[in-house]
Amino acid sequence: MILPPEEKTYHPSDGLFTDAHVPDFDAYLALYKKSTEEPEEFWADVAQEFYWKKPPSGQMLQYNFDVNKGNIYIKFMEGAKTNICYNVLDRNVHERNLGEKVAYYWEGNSPDHHQTITYNQLLRNVCRCANALKLLGVKKGDRVAIYLPMIPELVYTMLACARIGAVHSIVFAGFSSESLCERIVDAQCNILVTADGVYRGDKLINLKKIASEAVERCKERFCVVVKHHAFRTNTDASTLKLMTILLFLLCVLQTPWDESCDIWWDDLMDGVSDECEPEWMDSEDPLFILYTSGSTGKPKGVLHTVTGYMLYTSLTFKYVFDYHHDDVYWCTADIGWITGHSYITYGPLANGATSVLFEGVPVYPHVGRLWEIIEKYGVSKFYTAPTAIRLLMKYGREPLQRYDLSSLRVLGTVGEPINPEAWLWYYDVVGQQRCPVIDTFWQTETGGHVLTPLPAATPLKPGSATCPFFGVQPAILNEHGEELEGEAEGYLVFRKPWPGIMRGVYGNQERFESTYFRKFPGFYVTGDGCRRDQDGYYWITGRIDDMLNVSGHLLSTAEVEAALTEHPSVAEAAVVSRPHAVKGECLYCFVTLKDHKEFNRTLMEELKRKVREKIGPIATPDFIQNAPGLPKTRSGKIMRRVLRQIAHNEKDLGDLSTLADPKVVDVLFSQRCEAAA
Ligand code: WT7
Repeated sequence: MILPPEEKTYHPSDGLFTDAHVPDFDAYLALYKKSTEEPEEFWADVAQEFYWKKPPSGQMLQYNFDVNKGNIYIKFMEGAKTNICYNVLDRNVHERNLGEKVAYYWEGNSPDHHQTITYNQLLRNVCRCANALKLLGVKKGDRVAIYLPMIPELVYTMLACARIGAVHSIVFAGFSSESLCERIVDAQCNILVTADGVYRGDKLINLKKIASEAVERCKERFCVVVKHHAFRTNTDASTLKLMTILLFLLCVLQTPWDESCDIWWDDLMDGVSDECEPEWMDSEDPLFILYTSGSTGKPKGVLHTVTGYMLYTSLTFKYVFDYHHDDVYWCTADIGWITGHSYITYGPLANGATSVLFEGVPVYPHVGRLWEIIEKYGVSKFYTAPTAIRLLMKYGREPLQRYDLSSLRVLGTVGEPINPEAWLWYYDVVGQQRCPVIDTFWQTETGGHVLTPLPAATPLKPGSATCPFFGVQPAILNEHGEELEGEAEGYLVFRKPWPGIMRGVYGNQERFESTYFRKFPGFYVTGDGCRRDQDGYYWITGRIDDMLNVSGHLLSTAEVEAALTEHPSVAEAAVVSRPHAVKGECLYCFVTLKDHKEFNRTLMEELKRKVREKIGPIATPDFIQNAPGLPKTRSGKIMRRVLRQIAHNEKDLGDLSTLADPKVVDVLFSQRCEAAA
C-alpha cells in the first residue's frame, strides 16, 4: 500500500457536519484559548448543565505538580456537592424528559440475545441495586469489587455504587483469580459482584469458579452472583425454555457455591424498592478505582473523584464524537477498562445518549458481526481499537459489503498508536471516505481524551492524535527535562491538570508521585514518547518505560517476568515486545533455565499456562526462547535494548562494549524464534 506523505491531510466533514458543536479549526482554537487562559470561566460554563446539591463556588482548581514544593495533589470544585449517578440518570429522566429514550441496546454474545433499556428502566434498576447493596451493609466510601461480563448488571452495579457513594473497583472479567484477588485485597473490598459464567465467542468461561478461587484467598464477606450464562434468553419457545432449565441445572452443578456468603442477584433484588435517594458527595470524594499495570509489576489503583471526572467525560464525549441527540453510539471496549468506564457508561449517559452495549467478540458467530450490529441499530458514531481494525482488515471488504453502513458519521480509535495502513482502511472501507477517523490518545490516568481531533474541526493525518483537548497543555521534554519547542521528539508530559486527571494511586501517595511526577518536577509524565511536527500535530511514538501494549492493553514486562520465574525450572526471565500484525505488539520472552532443566514443548506450555493463571489470557506469551545466558552489563543489569533487537531481528546491534559477555548475543541470535510458540 502506498502511504500518503505526512503533510497530506484529510478533511472529510464537508456537508456531514452542518450543525457541529465545533464547526472549524478556528472555532477549536478559540475554545482552546479560552479553556487555557480562562479555565475557571470555561469549566464554570460546563458545570452549569449539571445538577448541584451545593453549586461550585470560590476557587475552582487547586493543585501542585512539583514534588519539590510538597505533596502532589489536584482538587477541582472542592466543596461543591453533587451525585454523578443523579446527573447521568435522574437529570435525564426528570429534567430533560428522556425517560423513554433508549439508554442501551444490549446485544449479547449470541445474536439471539438482546434487550432494550430506556433511561426510566435504567434508573429503576440502578436504584434497586443501590438499595440491595445497602441491605448488604455497603456505605459511602466502601469499596465494591465488580467482576462481570458486558451485561446490563455491570452498568447497574457501577452506577448503584456511585449513587450511594461507594467506590467501585471493576476488574476486567478476563483477569485470572490471582489478579482479581490482588485487586480485591489492595482496595480492601468486602463485596464482590460477579456472574455464574459467560460465553465469549463459543468459549464458556466459568466466572464464578474464578471468583470463588479469588474470594477464598482473600476472604471477603459477600459474593453476589448474576445468573447470566445459564438463564438469559429472549424467546419463550418451550423447547428453549427446557434447554434453559437443563443448562441452568448443569450450571448449578458446576457453579461452586458457599451458602455462608454467596447470594444470587435475583434473590437479593427481589422485593427491593426501585427508588433510592442519592448520597450527596463532595466533588473530591472518590468515585472509582481502576487498576492499570505498573512498571514495577504490581498494578496501580488509579483513583478518580466525582466532579472532575463527570465534567470531563461528559464534555469530551460531546465534542470528540460531536454528539447529537439522534445519534446511536457504539464503543466496542469492555467496561472493565477505562474506555468503557468513560465512554460506555459515564460520558454517553451524561449526555443522554443512546449506546450499544455489546457482550460479544468481533468475529463471532461470523466475521461480519460488527457490521451487522452497525446496520441493525443504525450506529452513527463508532469507537473501537486499532487491533480490532487490523483483525477485520484480514477478511477484506466482502464482509462489509453485505451490510448497510451509511448511518456512520464518526469513526473513533483508541488504545495504541494506529498504523497508517489500518487508519486508511478504516477511513476508506469502513467510512467510505465520508467519516473522519478520530484517533484519541489518553490513559486510565487521564480519565478522558487528552490528544484528539474534533470531527468537523481538525484536518486529519493518519497516525496522529493531532491536537490537545480543551484545558490540556502538552509539552515535549528531552532526557534532561528541558522543554523542546516547535518540531521535536521526546517525553510527552502535561504541565497542568485538567478536571479528569487521576487524583492518586489508591493507598499509595509515594507511588503516585514517583511514577508520574518525580522524573520531571512540575509535569505529569505520561510514559509515552511523542513527536510534534511542523504543524504542531502530536504523534505518539509508543511507551518509553518497561510497558508493553498488547491489543491496546498495557502490560508490564516485570509482571510477566515474575510469572515466568515462578515456574520451578526457570532461573531468570526477560520479556520484550515484538511487533505483531494484529495485536500491535506481542510478548517475546527469554528464559534461562536452572541447571539440568530441559527446554521443551511441555515446558513452553507450562510457562504459558503460568502466565495465564497469574495474569490472564491477554498476557499469554507469543514467543518463548531458551536463553542459556542473558546480555548483561558488568553491574548485572539486563540490556533490554539488545533483547528487543534480537526479538525484532535487527542485525545491527550497535555498541555492545558495556556487556559483560558479548558472546551470549550471538548464541541468542542464532536460536531466535521465527515462529510463534
Ligand atoms: C496507553 C494507556 C485510554 C484507553 C485505553 C488504554 C497507549 C492509548 C493511544 C493512541 C497511541 C495510545 C499509550 C497510553 N495509547 N491510546 N490513540 N495512540 N497510543 O488505556 O491501559 O491506560 O493505556 O495506551 O501508550 O499511555 P491504558
